Amino acid sequence: MSEPKSNLFIFFFLLFLSSILSVYSSTFSSDIIALQAFKSSIKPASIPHNSCLATWNFSTDPCSIPRVTHFTCGVTCSSGRVVQLTLDSQGYSGTLTPLISNLTRLVTLDLTENNFYGPIPLSISSLPNLQNLILRVNSFSGVVPPSVTSLKSLEFLDLSQNSLSGSLPNSMNSLTSLTRLDLSYNKLTGSLPKLPPNLNELALKANSLSGSLFYSSFDGLSQLMVVELGENSFRGTLDAWLFLLPSLQQIDLASNSFTRMIVPKPPTNFNSQLVAVNLSFNRINGFLPANFAYYPTMRSLGLSYNQLRGPIPKEYSKKGSLQRLFLDGNFLNGSPPADFFSRDTTVSGSLGDNCLKSCPVSSQLCLKSQKPASICQQAYGGKPRSPHHRS
Ligand SMILES: *[C@@H]1O[C@H](CO)[C@@H](O)[C@H](O)[C@H]1NC(C)=O
Ligand SMILES: *[C@@H]1O[C@H](CO)[C@@H](O)[C@H](O)[C@H]1NC(C)=O
Ligand SMILES: *[C@@H]1O[C@H](CO)[C@@H](O)[C@H](O)[C@H]1NC(C)=O
Repeated sequence: MSEPKSNLFIFFFLLFLSSILSVYSSTFSSDIIALQAFKSSIKPASIPHNSCLATWNFSTDPCSIPRVTHFTCGVTCSSGRVVQLTLDSQGYSGTLTPLISNLTRLVTLDLTENNFYGPIPLSISSLPNLQNLILRVNSFSGVVPPSVTSLKSLEFLDLSQNSLSGSLPNSMNSLTSLTRLDLSYNKLTGSLPKLPPNLNELALKANSLSGSLFYSSFDGLSQLMVVELGENSFRGTLDAWLFLLPSLQQIDLASNSFTRMIVPKPPTNFNSQLVAVNLSFNRINGFLPANFAYYPTMRSLGLSYNQLRGPIPKEYSKKGSLQRLFLDGNFLNGSPPADFFSRDTTVSGSLGDNCLKSCPVSSQLCLKSQKPASICQQAYGGKPRSPHHRS
């Protein structure tokens, strides 16, 4: 008679017990060991009292809630597994433990703006769920581990502003989930490999990358919107395909050593999205391509400090198109389009330090003065010539 009742009691007692256990001792044990290793590879002296890491006290279970005094921030769990490790920017100083790879459910690792140093552990490649690897603004050195290319879930890789050296991993194109790659401000060398196929944003600014840009690196990147490769040592010709990448909006290739560019007129069936191109501080020869004016969304063109010659194409004064025009520091000659100086002009920028005639000093476009006549005469072989009369 009382048997079913006591069974029921035991059932609810067990339910109660398991709910207590799920609150107070829920973390997967190897995740706890990995978190302990993570904290103990950071110098205690670099952990401020009011920081997230200071609350990591392993007398409590890391995933237990509510978090009142311990593990108040820095770590996020789901079903007793650590899924996110996002530290506050406190200047934590230390290395990144290879045991990080035991947090096998980790989705986000973000150590932004601290003072982690030493190598990025090779073991990082065994985090099959990792989507965001953000180690920006630290002091990591050594190479970008080639094994990162096996992170099949990786969507965002930001290792910018560290001291990484060596070349880019060769099989990067196997990162099929990657949409944003930022390795800017490091010491990377070598040339561009074939890039991940689903990139939206490629930022490799301020490294020592070299070689030419080849179509084979960009082939199939139909979603690429931003290319930031400024302040490197790339050279050679900027070919027509670059300007016709289907989703491209911004190109920054300033401060490299490019010597030529071939700018096509966008084909009529091609819906160009290009808004801004910066090719300033290169060594680009030849005439200023009129074709830039035919990109319907193009607003900003930077070609300062190259070796461009000849006149400013009259196409550049088409209303509603180019609005920011930085052409200073070349050998442009002739007279700029008169529309640039009309009362209702929408053009701003700089035309100074060229060989232009009649650049009115009343216009802010002409604030910087033109080159001395002697330099211009020399540049044009003794006497000023228009490009149409070159032999
Ligand atoms: C961490 O992972 C490695 C490789 O999977 C395993 O051999 C090791 O036992 C794990 N360590 C801990 C503390 O769980
Ligand atoms: C961790 O917490 C326990 C209990 O709250 C406390 O006794 C101990 O001093 C703490 N340890 C550290 C290193 O703060
Ligand atoms: C182009 O890049 C150079 C060098 O980084 C920079 O100084 C300049 O402001 C940029 N110009 C435009 C138009 O964005």
